[in-house]
Amino acid sequence: MNSSRTIQIRDKAKHFGQEHIFRFWDELNDKSRRNLLEQVENIDFELMENLRNDYIINRTINHFSGELEPAPIITIPTTNTQMDKAKQAKAEGEKLLSSGKVAALLVAGGQGTRLGFDGPKGKYPAGPISSKSLFQMHAEKILALNRKYNTTIPWFIMTSEANHDETVNYFSDNKYFGLNQADIYFFTQGMIPAMDEKGLFFLEKKDHIFCNPNGHGGTLYALRDNDCLAEMKRRGIEEIFYFQVDNTLINICDPCFIGYHHLSNAEMSSKVVAKEDPHEKVGVIGKLNGKIAVIEYSDLPKDAMEARNADGKLKYIGGSIAIHMIKRAFVEQMTAGDFSLPYHVANKKINFIDENGNYVQPEKPNGFKLEMFIFDALPYTKNSVVMEIVREDEFSPIKNAEGQDSPQTAKQDLMNYYGRMMKQAGFEVDFDENGNLKGLLEISPLFALDAEELKEKLDKNFRFEGNLILE
Ligand code: UD1
Repeated sequence: MNSSRTIQIRDKAKHFGQEHIFRFWDELNDKSRRNLLEQVENIDFELMENLRNDYIINRTINHFSGELEPAPIITIPTTNTQMDKAKQAKAEGEKLLSSGKVAALLVAGGQGTRLGFDGPKGKYPAGPISSKSLFQMHAEKILALNRKYNTTIPWFIMTSEANHDETVNYFSDNKYFGLNQADIYFFTQGMIPAMDEKGLFFLEKKDHIFCNPNGHGGTLYALRDNDCLAEMKRRGIEEIFYFQVDNTLINICDPCFIGYHHLSNAEMSSKVVAKEDPHEKVGVIGKLNGKIAVIEYSDLPKDAMEARNADGKLKYIGGSIAIHMIKRAFVEQMTAGDFSLPYHVANKKINFIDENGNYVQPEKPNGFKLEMFIFDALPYTKNSVVMEIVREDEFSPIKNAEGQDSPQTAKQDLMNYYGRMMKQAGFEVDFDENGNLKGLLEISPLFALDAEELKEKLDKNFRFEGNLILE
C-alpha cells in the first residue's frame, strides 16, 4: 500500500476518534502494517459512528414500543377443514420442491461459545448412536429430499471468518456427504468491530481490531455481497428455507410450511412452538403496531408475558424458533438500497491489548458487540405466515454443554422421534412414563424420511430389539 493511501486511512480513523488502533504502528513489520491497514480500510466508519451514538452513547434505540397484539397463527391441525388445508399446503410445497424452486439456507456463522465446543458447531457429533455431526445430519436430509422429489435443493451455508475454512475443509474431506459439491455454496458473513463504553474499538492483537460476526441478520447482506442472490436467480430459486445449525430435529424444507407461505404470497414466514412456561427464554411472535414481529423475551413486558386467554392458553404463545421461509425477491428488495436492519447490543467480556501492550482478559463485561437479527425483517413484509409445529417433532437444539437444550436432551429427543416414527409405521416400540423410548434407535433420513417410507422399507415381520441404527 503506498504511503498516501496509508495516510488517508490513518487520517480517516483519526477523524472518527479511533487513532489508538495505530498505537503499535512503529513496532509492526510490513506484513502486520498491511494487515491492519486492510482491515481498517474495510471498516465503515460512518456506520460505526452512527451505531456508537445510537446504541452505546445515547441508547436511543428502543426495539419495543407501541401497541402489541397477538399474531394470527396456523395451529396444529385437528379439524377436518384444517387437515384439508394442511394437505393442500403440502401439495403446493411439494410442487415447488419438485420444480427446483426452493433453496436451503443454513446459518452457521455463530461462535457456539455456550456449548464450549472447539470448532464450527456443525461439526458437533449429535447422532445419538452414530455420533454423526450436525452438518452430516442436515446433509443427509437434503440428499434424501433430493431423491424423494427428484430435484436439486441447492444448499447455501453461511459461515464467518473464524470458522469458514474449517467448515469448507470438513465438507470437502467428507466428500460433501454425498451431495454434489456444485450444489453447496459456502459464503461468509460480515464482521463488525466491538466498542468500549466510549465507542472505541479494541485491538485484539497489535495489528488486528477485534470484530464479531454481524449477527444472523447479516445473512441478507452476505447473500447479496457474495452473489448468492444472483446464483439463486440463475437457478430459478423463488423460495428460501432458513434454518439454524444447532436444531437436531429440523424438518428441512417442510413442504407444508413452504406451501402455506407460498399460497399466502408471504415474503417471510415463521415457525413457532407453543410456549408452555410464560418465562421460557424465547422471543415471541406478535403484531407490533400492526406489523408481524419477534419480540425478544427481554423486551416483552411481564404482564404481556403472563397474559392468558379465556381458555387458559398464553396470549403470546408463539415461541420463535428461528425457522423461516423467505422469498428471494424479498431479500433482493431489502438489500437493494442503503436500508439496514436495526442492531442489537450485547455487553460482553472482550479480551484486548492495553496501551502498554499487555493482553488483558477482563473479569467483567467491558465492551459492546453489535448484531443484526434476521427476524427484524418481518415487520417489512406485507404478508407473513406464522405456523405452529409440534415441538417434540421439530425442535431440539444443542445450545448448552449440560441440562436443557444440551447434547443429552437432543439425543433423547431424536431417539424418541425415531421411536414414534417406528410406532406410526406399525411396529412395536415401548416408551417409559416420561415418553422416552426404551432402547436405542437411530434412523438416517437416507433410510427413511418418514413413517410411510419406513413402513415400505422394513419387512413386516421386523421387530425392534432395543439397539438399532438404520441407514
Ligand atoms: C436464537 C434466537 C431465539 C430462538 C433460538 C432457537 C436470536 C437472537 N435468538 O437464539 O429467539 O428461540 O435461536 O434456537 O436469534 N449465527 C450466525 N451468525 C451470527 C450469529 C448467529 O450465523 O453472527 C447463527 C448461529 O450459527 C446459529 C444461529 O445463528 O445457527 C443462532 O445463533 P445463536 O446465537 O445460537 O442464537 P440463540 O441465542 O440460540
